[in-house]
Amino acid sequence: MDLVFVTNNAHKINEINNIINNKKIKILSLKDIGFSGDIAEDCDTLEGNASQKANFIYNKYHCNCFADDTGLEIEALNGRPGVYSARYAGEACDFDDNMNKVLEELKNIENRKARFRTVISLIIDGKEKLFEGIVNGKMLREKSGIKGFGYDPIFQPDGHNISFAQMDLNEKNKISHRGIATQKLIDYLINSYL
Ligand code: IMP
Repeated sequence: MDLVFVTNNAHKINEINNIINNKKIKILSLKDIGFSGDIAEDCDTLEGNASQKANFIYNKYHCNCFADDTGLEIEALNGRPGVYSARYAGEACDFDDNMNKVLEELKNIENRKARFRTVISLIIDGKEKLFEGIVNGKMLREKSGIKGFGYDPIFQPDGHNISFAQMDLNEKNKISHRGIATQKLIDYLINSYL
């Protein structure tokens, strides 16, 4: 089965291929179907954004596809940056700017509890299904490690004493928000379609 992953993020395509590792499912990128450009994601929930992106591509190309949206939800910041994780420090910000902003906001805060939450919207033959993955952990006081992307250097998952950015991709995928949501997606595809 061909499935288009609605993302322009090469890291994610890499991660998902690594997780799926199933010859019956072929992941295509937006480039593979000839789409380039931006897709709106202007909802105020992860569910809304994932659904908006998947529906956009399904309606345009009528191909089976899925899209995801992820947020870092920090308890002491009332769930921020949440759905605004990508551009938390402003429109032209990079990963470092976002991490610096979070570290500054948490400077004098003892409660470091946080979680990553991913929502995947899958559309097959016009029918949509949502999958959720959560990993609980804590925000570190400084950056640690250089692997991964986004907030990985300042997030330490529960049960581990290293950050996501110090883990190999395989190790991260086994426990990560996206790994969990993707495994739910794969189980569903295997049970329902393969
Ligand atoms: P997206 O919706 O998956 O594009 O994620 C939004 C933002 O959340 C990204 O720009 C990253 O800053 C952050 N993010 C998503 N997934 C991860 C992850 O696995 N590790 C660290 N940060 C992430």
